[in-house]
Amino acid sequence: MNIVLMGPPGAGKGTQAELIKKNYPIPHISTGDMFRDAVKNGTELGLKAKSYMDAGQLVPDEVTIGIIQERLAQDDCASGFMLDGFPRTTPQAEALDQVLADMGKKLEAVINIFVPREVLLQRILNRVTCNNCKTVYNLRFLDDHKTCTKCGGELGYRSDDRGEIAKTRLEVYLEQTLPLLQYYQERQVLNSIDGNRETDEVFEDIQELLEKIK
Ligand code: AP5
Ligand code: MG
Repeated sequence: MNIVLMGPPGAGKGTQAELIKKNYPIPHISTGDMFRDAVKNGTELGLKAKSYMDAGQLVPDEVTIGIIQERLAQDDCASGFMLDGFPRTTPQAEALDQVLADMGKKLEAVINIFVPREVLLQRILNRVTCNNCKTVYNLRFLDDHKTCTKCGGELGYRSDDRGEIAKTRLEVYLEQTLPLLQYYQERQVLNSIDGNRETDEVFEDIQELLEKIK
């Protein structure tokens, strides 16, 4: 199963990816997570990505395409993968088509999660992540705002979730990523799902779709 999760910042891509992972044995490949790990570990990739992420801008295509190409060649992607946050520009989508064609594969579904802008901003500003196990929470649904309910770890904010940066990320999405919906519509793999509902309800629709293609 070769799928892409698309949607603006805060749409719930990462949240739904966690649920998909529990039900389908495919790796979750999030370029945002890969870049954040690289920044945390102070690698060369992290040094390249940091200034763009801190500004809410996209990391240059050549850097991003390179890491995805390497990742998709790994053994655990042999029977499928779930991309989250890639592709985000037309050159990235074209490069992905080429990489997959070279591997004799193709995308089976692009799942576009859509949510109104004001809800996205609220979600981004209320997002906390466990520093230990990486579980993501919406503060509005957490009684204790300080500790992870799964492992007791400390919760922290993402550095690009602050007001102005979050707004820039939404603008960048509209300008550079939204046109991909038409790209995938034309290739007849686009499936749009209303993400402004309970997490489980959103997942039910995604599951219904995945059952058809698995
Ligand atoms: P990335 O990490 O991909 O961030 P993003 O696309 O901005 O998306 P988010 O992770 O913010 O949102 P999400 O949709 O995963 O939502 P989540 O499930 O967490 O990218 C970060 C940066 O890396 C980019 O700005 C760029 O610099 C760089 N980058 C990454 N990929 C790149 C690429 N391909 N090219 C170039 N640069 C790239 O949910 C959000 C919140 O809402 C959480 O608190 C969650 O608990 C809550 N929530 C989720 N679902 C629901 C629901 N149904 N109801 C209520 N609350 C919900
Ligand atoms: Mg995410």
